[in-house]
Amino acid sequence: MAGEKDKIMAKIDLDKVPEHIAIIMDGNGRWARKKGLPRIAGHRAGVESIREVIETSLELNIKVITLFAFSTENWKRPRKEVNFLMNLPLEYLNKELDNLKKQGVKINKIGCEEDIPEKTLNAVKKGIKETYNNNKLILNFALNYGGRAEIINAVKRIADKVENKELDSNNIDENIFNEYLYTKDLPDPSLIIRSSGEKRISNFLLWQMAYSELWFSPVYWPDFKGEHLLEAIYDYQNRDRRFGKVK
Ligand code: FPP
Repeated sequence: MAGEKDKIMAKIDLDKVPEHIAIIMDGNGRWARKKGLPRIAGHRAGVESIREVIETSLELNIKVITLFAFSTENWKRPRKEVNFLMNLPLEYLNKELDNLKKQGVKINKIGCEEDIPEKTLNAVKKGIKETYNNNKLILNFALNYGGRAEIINAVKRIADKVENKELDSNNIDENIFNEYLYTKDLPDPSLIIRSSGEKRISNFLLWQMAYSELWFSPVYWPDFKGEHLLEAIYDYQNRDRRFGKVK
């Protein structure tokens, strides 16, 4: 409801918005079941919520939105659902890329490229290339992403460097480790949102979330609208972030 959104927007402090919001878009299947529809109808409806989140993020000048679009564990779903989920970014970008370009959105992706169908990967890469110079909002898709896989990948590449004497193991610190993550060019998420009432992290941004604030919304992802994002941001703004320090 636009009225609800305006009401909560008026309470938001525009100087204190989270720089990076990462979202676990959960509840598509339950949303569909509730309506007597196939699960894929829930995923399709979820794309509309992505549109809303981008619009609201642009209004607030949020710098990065990361969306958990497909996890390394999602391959275990039925083939038909996997195929549908893998095709969605392609379908979405075919439809939305021109609009995203105009809005100043810069597309990015994190995750393992292996196993992603070529058509989908090419569409995402095209989106990344064509929005490379945009700087209003980074729209970061976590695609075939798993936090543990990301950390293992970083460890292997660091081990290679040490073995080849290109890196001294005594110099490995958090900043160096960060350089080997998919997210090396992004700030850590200030706020992580999960929709659908589940209170789990599900292998999402394990390293990066060390000091993230967490928000669990009861709303199924296809029902998640701008006002729900604002609700999370409003709560975030009223928290005391100490990063281990005392006041
Ligand atoms: C979790 O809900 C959701 C996913 C595994 C996929 C999320 C993907 C989208 C919202 C669309 C992505 C679109 C683009 C353009 C990248 P679930 O299926 O696990 O829901 P359930 O727990 O209710 O079954």
